[in-house]
Amino acid sequence: MIDSHCHVLFGVDDGPKTIEESITMLKDAAADGVNKVICTSHCVPGIKFENDYAILKPVYDQVRDVELYLGCELMVTPLSLEWLKENRIASYNQTKWLLIEIPYLSDVQFEIDVEATFKTLISMGYKILIAHPERYKQIQNDYSKMAVWRSIGCHFSVNRTSLLDTAREVDRNLSWKFIEDDYCDVVATDAHRTSVRNITLSDAYAMVETRFGSERAKRLFIDNPQRLIDGLDLL
Ligand SMILES: [Fe+2]
Repeated sequence: MIDSHCHVLFGVDDGPKTIEESITMLKDAAADGVNKVICTSHCVPGIKFENDYAILKPVYDQVRDVELYLGCELMVTPLSLEWLKENRIASYNQTKWLLIEIPYLSDVQFEIDVEATFKTLISMGYKILIAHPERYKQIQNDYSKMAVWRSIGCHFSVNRTSLLDTAREVDRNLSWKFIEDDYCDVVATDAHRTSVRNITLSDAYAMVETRFGSERAKRLFIDNPQRLIDGLDLL
């Protein structure tokens, strides 16, 4: 399996603090059958965690014991487009795929129009994977926005923890509905530490396989994440 959303690089965001913690997370990943990990540390231009490629790359180079790729989780802020134009953002494995996070509570938290930003990014040639749509108030309040964002060309990554029985009901119901409605393109851990959403995918893989069959599970946990690495359109 491939984890395409995880905060495993140490000392750059709210993920692990030390290289030892990063390495423990990666060992846990390997033990769970996760053989490739894309490191997607937060990047919130102009606000916090200002992790551009030049900052992430040297940290990434220190933890490359298993098959790792570099990316980031880019928050849409007023500076994000500028940073992209300046080539400062770590896209997925330096392809045109971006893991995009939007403000949790409101479209206008940073006084930006997220839908207009998605359109601009796509017109710039980027492919958008939206992180954990199940956690955004906009979607929780208005499910039809998923169709709107899909029609713009967005893809969606659901957190593994949102699918588990331990998830908040609203997150869990939405996440399974996304899979049912084919709005879920990828499942990833969004791991932050060994204690906060560790790198584990096998439990969610088994649940998806039971409910939707082995072909769907393979698409969400292996085939599509590999296509992010390769810069290809998703299946
Ligand atoms: Fe994340």
